Amino acid sequence: MTEPAAPLRLTDYREPAYRRLPSPVRDFVEGGAGDERALDADRRAFARVTLRPRVLVDVSAPATATELLGAPLATPVGVAPTAYHRLLHPDGELATARGAGRAGALYVVSLFASRTLEEIAAAATGPRWLQLYWLRRRDVLAGLVDRAADAGYRALVLTVDAPHLGRRHRDARNGFAVPPDVRAVNLDPALMAAAHRPAPGRSALAAHTAEAVDPAVTWPDLAWLRARSPLPLVLKGVLTAEDARLAVRHGADAIVVSNHGGRQLDRAPAGLDVLPEVVDAVAGACPVLFDGGVRSGTDAYAALALGARAVLLGRPVLWGLAADGADGVAGVLDLATAELAHTMALTGRPALTALDRTAVSFTPAP
Ligand SMILES: Cc1cc2nc3c(=O)[nH]c(=O)nc-3n(C[C@H](O)[C@H](O)[C@H](O)COP(=O)(O)O)c2cc1C
Repeated sequence: MTEPAAPLRLTDYREPAYRRLPSPVRDFVEGGAGDERALDADRRAFARVTLRPRVLVDVSAPATATELLGAPLATPVGVAPTAYHRLLHPDGELATARGAGRAGALYVVSLFASRTLEEIAAAATGPRWLQLYWLRRRDVLAGLVDRAADAGYRALVLTVDAPHLGRRHRDARNGFAVPPDVRAVNLDPALMAAAHRPAPGRSALAAHTAEAVDPAVTWPDLAWLRARSPLPLVLKGVLTAEDARLAVRHGADAIVVSNHGGRQLDRAPAGLDVLPEVVDAVAGACPVLFDGGVRSGTDAYAALALGARAVLLGRPVLWGLAADGADGVAGVLDLATAELAHTMALTGRPALTALDRTAVSFTPAP
């Protein structure tokens, strides 16, 4: 019997991952909102990038190591927050944490993790941030924030693009609900009950979000969260210069440019298309991270060249997790980092500080 070929591209993890998953889970991972235009836009934006290689530069040692909010990282490619990793692998977030740690990558843990924050912390060897949605129950939010600090999480990532869940037609058609054996264990079971209640033609996650997430939150509310926790506050889901400036004014310590992998507002722009405008608006006041549609180290290179300090992977990490647990997660992150280093070498930019807009040719979509 021949051994299966080792993955050469991040997308090589996709097929073995999906072979192992029931089709509603595959749809949950892969799908986007509405007509999936924002999802398509993320990929199409990368297709418009070409690289501007420089030659006769010493590229014997391309260096991908970086630093983010005080934490040293072996790579600027990290793990985006994604819910319910036990849908993909029995070890769930513990495998993700081990894989990220092995790759020297940042791991942003989702509020809807299916392992406890403390278990994940014990399995991790690298820096972790905790992602939050603004829950109606501020007491629960406050408790989570305290637990995050106690368990050594280094930042809070407030996702601001989901006052309501996107209209995810695949999940609605499947009547998708989270199976009872996979739970968001960091939250009270009563608070999560709606996520497990299937109903034909409806996503249980949408129903749950409507029940649990506070859609009335506005910029001044951030002061409460900042006062509640000593951890830096990162805002995820910013897509305009106007909001980037507000984020800085309201004390954000970092911003993630993201359209939530096309899962929230359909017809939102691709993150890559608005990354330059956000970076210009922030004007160095805080680091800008990026996610959405990154499917190679060369894609990561493009986002870094357009001003991102780090790039997060959503679905590719989930493919790695489903295909091969911690090894798959580390494999995805290592491959992306190796491709990034290779591209840095072949473009004559062996240091991340040399990745600027002159490294790419890119016209944002109008
Ligand atoms: C299955 C899945 C679950 C997700 N869960 C969350 C979540 O709990 N919180 C959050 O802020 N973003 C969540 N996201 C969005 C990701 O953080 C990220 O923005 C997106 O996946 C990046 O795009 P990519 O998948 O093309 O890399 C989720 C994405 C997927 C695919």
